[in-house]
Amino acid sequence: MDNMELMKARHSVRRFTDRPLEEAAVAALQAEIDESNRESGLHIQLITNEPEAFRTGKPGYGQIRGCKNYLAIVGPKDMDLAAGYYGERVVLKAQELGIHSCWVALTYSKRKAQGAERPGEKRYLVVALGYGETSGVAHKGKGLTDISDYRPGDPDWYKSGLEAALLAPTAVNQQKFRFERDGEKVTAKVSGVGFYTKIDLGIVMYHFELGAGRGKAVWKES
Ligand SMILES: Cc1cc2nc3c(=O)[nH]c(=O)nc-3n(C[C@H](O)[C@H](O)[C@H](O)COP(=O)(O)O)c2cc1C
Repeated sequence: MDNMELMKARHSVRRFTDRPLEEAAVAALQAEIDESNRESGLHIQLITNEPEAFRTGKPGYGQIRGCKNYLAIVGPKDMDLAAGYYGERVVLKAQELGIHSCWVALTYSKRKAQGAERPGEKRYLVVALGYGETSGVAHKGKGLTDISDYRPGDPDWYKSGLEAALLAPTAVNQQKFRFERDGEKVTAKVSGVGFYTKIDLGIVMYHFELGAGRGKAVWKES
């Protein structure tokens, strides 16, 4: 599966089966986490066979059922962008390994969730992982011109980067980001008010880079 197919196949999954994560998949996921932590300075941790974090006792939207595995996205403060960027890198590795996921900022137990925090670190959020009852469904969302300055005739790499960004998960599917291009240089920024928008931005930047296929071509506007 190429990167675009991988991003198209990823959807949030909130109901999981009992099947434990395969050993080989855990090893591959851990290697991706180690590499991401090394590059970024984050402290992302894989927690397995731990059913408490999603036992919130609050049924309703966003309830995560049957989940016993998750990523604790932990790291130094003010690293929201990296938390999103590297978290999504691990999420797409999971997808490649046949493991479904859902980013979860609100609908989990902050008290029960595990994941060590070293001095100066915090837990940004978690990502539920496991084998889903289904593979999820595609979200409805914005179009190219809603999230960018795209015009017909723009380079193909820009268009495919933007299409990849539109496939990215964002909190409550808010898609509050905007891309602009000046020649080869692309900037991405948060557009509008929302919550977890900086983490979202990191996630969509990772998608853009994969879709555009040109390495680290995106710079965030300050
Ligand atoms: C930063 C962030 C926080 C999220 N928090 C939650 C959450 O607390 N509960 C939940 O059920 N889904 C949560 N989601 C999942 C989004 O609702 C989901 O990604 C979005 O609706 C788009 O759907 P998709 O992931 O299937 O493409 C979160 C997603 C992101 C990126």
